[in-house]
Amino acid sequence: MVTIAPSLLAADFADLRGQIALAEKGGADWIHLDVMDGHFVPNITIGPPVIRSLRRHTSLPFDVHLMIQNPDLYLEEFRSAGADSITVHYETCPHLHRTVQKIKSLGARAGVCVNPATPESLLSGILADADMVLIMTVNPGFGGQTFIGSSLDKIRRTAALARGLHPGILLEVDGGIDHSTARSVVEAGATVLVAGKAIFGASDIPSAVRALRTAALQEKP
Ligand code: DX5
Ligand code: ZN
Repeated sequence: MVTIAPSLLAADFADLRGQIALAEKGGADWIHLDVMDGHFVPNITIGPPVIRSLRRHTSLPFDVHLMIQNPDLYLEEFRSAGADSITVHYETCPHLHRTVQKIKSLGARAGVCVNPATPESLLSGILADADMVLIMTVNPGFGGQTFIGSSLDKIRRTAALARGLHPGILLEVDGGIDHSTARSVVEAGATVLVAGKAIFGASDIPSAVRALRTAALQEKP
């Protein structure tokens, strides 16, 4: 079992509603929405109004990835806009436990995330309380980057840490996930795969969703 979460960052922003419909047709499980503020990461994307508008057009869960400073200020707004999961970065949350409790109190799934250079061990104090851990497999800010190879060991270490602290926690990976990396990250322990370019960069979006799932589940000979 693997959850496929297409990232709208690589979609046609002039037709987000249509692009979501195509991903849904291919069997996408969630829609991943990347929120960037131009401060924590060097890019600016979308906020609650866009999420609220899209919410009316699909029943797929919205997986909101906050790459913003002071995410605590906006949690209620993202939840009311329609976020089903809210993931915050370790690097932006001095009071991560409080932030996680707040997300859960709003009725959303709480995700915690680390950048490639941040050790997963720093999450050991929060894994018992979080619903999901997100391991960035590229530096956040842009789609279409190359998967960082050392992430595979980090995913394995995170899965091992989680087994002791919170068996069953969702382990999401984000960045450079495509048909060539999907199987390796699943074998390392990932259960939720975010993919932007591999899905919305394809000429046939529904087929790309199906192909990614097949690649993720395919046993290597
Ligand atoms: C990067 C974002 C990702 C991005 C992944 O900062 O968090 O969700 O869309 O894009 P791909 O799959 O193209 O690497
Ligand atoms: Zn993301």
